[in-house]
Amino acid sequence: MGSQRAGELMDRAESEAHSAPPEFTGEFPIVVEGLTNRFGPQVVHEDLSLKVKRGEILGVVGGSGTGKSVLMRSIIGLQIPSEGSIEVLGDSITDAEEDSDIDIRSRWGVLFQGGALFSTLTVAENVEVPLKQFYPEISDELRQEIARYKVRLSGLPEEATSKYPSELSGGMKKRAGLARALALDPELLFLDEPTAGLDPIGAAAFDRLTRELADTLGLTVFLITHDLDTLYAICDRVAVLADKKVIAVGTIPELLALDHPWIQVYFNGPRGRAAEETHTRSMSGAMDKDNKGGA
Ligand SMILES: Nc1ncnc2c1ncn2[C@@H]1O[C@H](COP(=O)(O)OP(=O)(O)O)[C@@H](O)[C@H]1O
Ligand SMILES: [Mg+2]
Repeated sequence: MGSQRAGELMDRAESEAHSAPPEFTGEFPIVVEGLTNRFGPQVVHEDLSLKVKRGEILGVVGGSGTGKSVLMRSIIGLQIPSEGSIEVLGDSITDAEEDSDIDIRSRWGVLFQGGALFSTLTVAENVEVPLKQFYPEISDELRQEIARYKVRLSGLPEEATSKYPSELSGGMKKRAGLARALALDPELLFLDEPTAGLDPIGAAAFDRLTRELADTLGLTVFLITHDLDTLYAICDRVAVLADKKVIAVGTIPELLALDHPWIQVYFNGPRGRAAEETHTRSMSGAMDKDNKGGA
């Protein structure tokens, strides 16, 4: 029902503005090949390749400073790679014309590391920013209605729309950032460490919201995280960044079968084990409930 409402609003927005691009139906909305990123003498990525499947939540992990954020910035065209090619939703990012860039940027939403809302704008006004940028023809009234709707979709109460970022808790700021990322009904969602700095309960709630939105809105999610609970709870696959490359992509059991030292230490260290136990417990809890429901 929620996504139907979103669809109606955006249909109205589109008839007030230009027509929307057709939705991407290929298998891999993000394809990175042979990516190299250098900053002076520092080589961050070298011949890195990665394919993200349509409809999945892909977790991206790696030690601090391994280039997770730089990879995301390369994919969304904010960081011009030293070498390599990147395709997003079937369009080349690396040799795109400026005109087609504008179109494609309206088809993804980004929650940057740290959130970065405009501090002098209310939550609703923050969400209106991309709407103004990409659909300047939409009436003020409709734009405000869409913004209010996105704020509610992100699990914030109605009152939050008129609050300033400084009046919000950490978790609410993340939700406001998420509402802004969803402003244009994106096909792709990029989240850079969305649960960093949240308490475990707030982080788990944000994870559930991400999964729910991905499922109901049919999003493909590129999710950078340090949070092992997030990986277990909501990611379909996990990509591991190490040695300047994506050294492995797969489900957690598939990754555990590899004997790469970083992967073993990460997933089999005390924190990895604790996350796995929590996950196993909540899964068996869910199954108990299912059994009762069926009986
Ligand atoms: N614009 C930049 N100029 C120079 N160095 C950068 C720039 N952006 C990132 N780096 C460097 O690239 C490396 C990877 O950074 P980053 O992608 O932010 O790591 P993380 O995996 O923690 O997100 C770091 O050593 C960082 O200092
Ligand atoms: Mg980072």
